Amino acid sequence: MTLIIDGNHVAASVREQAKRSAQDYLQQTGKSIGLAVVLVGDDPASAVYVRMKEQDCAEVGIQTFDHRLSEETTQDELNQLIGKLNADESVHGILVQLPLPGHLDEEAAIAQISPEKDVDGFTAENLGRTLRGQNALRACTPLGVMRLLEHYDIDTCGKHAVVVGRSTIVGKPQSLLLLEKNATVTICHSRTADLPAVCRQADILVAAVGVAELLGADCIKPGAVVIDVGINRNKEGKLVGDVDFEAASSLAGAITPVPGGVGPMTRAMLIENTIQSALDA
Ligand code: GUN
Repeated sequence: MTLIIDGNHVAASVREQAKRSAQDYLQQTGKSIGLAVVLVGDDPASAVYVRMKEQDCAEVGIQTFDHRLSEETTQDELNQLIGKLNADESVHGILVQLPLPGHLDEEAAIAQISPEKDVDGFTAENLGRTLRGQNALRACTPLGVMRLLEHYDIDTCGKHAVVVGRSTIVGKPQSLLLLEKNATVTICHSRTADLPAVCRQADILVAAVGVAELLGADCIKPGAVVIDVGINRNKEGKLVGDVDFEAASSLAGAITPVPGGVGPMTRAMLIENTIQSALDA
């Protein structure tokens, strides 16, 4: 029997704990924990993600400060807003939803975020600290994946973990966290020769490429743990991952569904990072 990894369930228990932490914080300080959410432009998917993040915060008792900026926002305006949020004591975390409209420089925007408020774990400081094994605000999706593995007692030590995708927000930090937990890590990407052959070596396969159902049965070693980070629409408009769930689930030992796998865990880790950020302030 293939284990279906239930991200909704694990994320709900993370939020319950977070709710208690937020209440304790309020009792001890008389203040709420605050997250500033910056959304530039009208990307419909980003609007959905931001709404879900804000709903989770409301459930937990984290106050959100919603900043919706028009598609025409300039880099200066965005940088100024981030500067203001850096200085605002009621803001413990700053989330700038990506992607930004094409004329804006994401690197420059992220560099503006104070590392202590960088609850996405995207800044050079936090990524560098993660690389060095130091205390850091770590990227939410990789953290969420590690939490799922932990929750289901999936041991990474000595296992071959194959991460498909080398993005700065998922693939690279994911590889570091798996390495930290003593996995043998291979990173694959668009230029990898014979991708299915490499994936078939994986005891733990993490798919983070953003291509609908790219990885099929020929990518799965029987019994493998398959973690699907992708959220895509297929040709029929259905929400699917980077893994062909039907094909992969008959071979895998455990697999995350899309939706209901990694997505809710990313949001749950954002909440944990925001609480951490408030406690450290
Ligand atoms: N865009 C896609 N994933 C993320 C994320 O985790 N955080 C932010 N800020 N933007 C994203």
